[in-house]
Amino acid sequence: MIELEEIQEEIGGSKGLPSQHYVSKKIFSLEKNKLYFKQWFGVGFGRDIPQPGDIYPIKFLGIPLLLVRNKIGEINVFENTCRHRGTILVEDKKNTQGLIRCPYHSWCYTLDGELKATPHVGGPGVNFHDNLEKKELGLFKLRSHVFLDVIFITLSEDTESFESTHGEFLSRWSDFDKPLYFKKDDSEFELNVNCNWKLAVENYCESYHLPWVHPDLNMVSKLEDHYNIVSKGRFSGQGSKAFSQIKGKNGELFPCFSNLPSKWNDTSEYISLFPNVLLGVHKDHTFSVILVPKSKRKTTERFSIYYSKKESLGNNFASLRKENARFWENVFKEDISVVEGMQEGRNGKYFDGGRFSPIMEEPTRIFHKWVAKQLKE
Ligand code: FES
Ligand SMILES: [Fe+2]
Repeated sequence: MIELEEIQEEIGGSKGLPSQHYVSKKIFSLEKNKLYFKQWFGVGFGRDIPQPGDIYPIKFLGIPLLLVRNKIGEINVFENTCRHRGTILVEDKKNTQGLIRCPYHSWCYTLDGELKATPHVGGPGVNFHDNLEKKELGLFKLRSHVFLDVIFITLSEDTESFESTHGEFLSRWSDFDKPLYFKKDDSEFELNVNCNWKLAVENYCESYHLPWVHPDLNMVSKLEDHYNIVSKGRFSGQGSKAFSQIKGKNGELFPCFSNLPSKWNDTSEYISLFPNVLLGVHKDHTFSVILVPKSKRKTTERFSIYYSKKESLGNNFASLRKENARFWENVFKEDISVVEGMQEGRNGKYFDGGRFSPIMEEPTRIFHKWVAKQLKE
């Protein structure tokens, strides 16, 4: 087993995490507990359950979860496990205006997780029993928080609130805490990448690779236009001072968010919120990416684009929306070969974590320091 103190000392210098952090099953499961379950991590999008009554069962790192939008539009996350005999409550995505019924013995729950019906539980025709207190048997509800349409949860009762955990980040981007508009189908994509989830974070944090991996992007926003975003330790990233809006054939531009401070006129920022959420903001659209670790070597990247105004969802913007989505999909696809290359490279016998550029890769180093710190705690 690796010595975490040693790693932390090395990361304090210029070395990165050792290869075991990318190829060892044991470390993958250690990370699952320390870097996910004890933190706030992204599990889904509000757009996965757009309508009241929408129910979406998912499995995240093996945990069965139920994303639910209740009758008044609030989002809740429950364990997708019936309180009776513990079977999976919902198998498929659906909408219900009534109760959520367990397929096994038909115990029924409201969209807010309360146990409402326990048919024949006291014998045939008797739907109650004194030993079963319905109000104690609601679905297990997890603490959740939605920001930029990402549904974050924590599995730990000791974790501080999302607002205090991520206060520094939230105040940095408070300008974008506004309603967002999403168009199904043309503003989403998913990529399956053969690498450990951390490599996707590490690559997203830094702009050093831009000239070689993203030549088109580099033509509009050059390496020297970028700056590092470094924090006290829960996020990092990069920004560009040369953002220009995508333009349609007839010169049309997406409308911008209202009341944005002028600093966003030509600035865009890209932040990894540790552990698994990648976010981008621009004056006319934002995007959110959830990294879903499938195994130590496989990650799914779920991507959504959001617009600042409802009118951006109209037909007259359809081709521009498509072009914008294609643009970002290309950027994320361009990164695949390098992150998969880093994964393969970690099978080498002598690789020692590499060396970070002290100037260009501080955001990535901050992420490694965060990883080492959480694993040690
Ligand atoms: S396991 Fe759900 S009702 Fe029995
Ligand atoms: Fe990239």
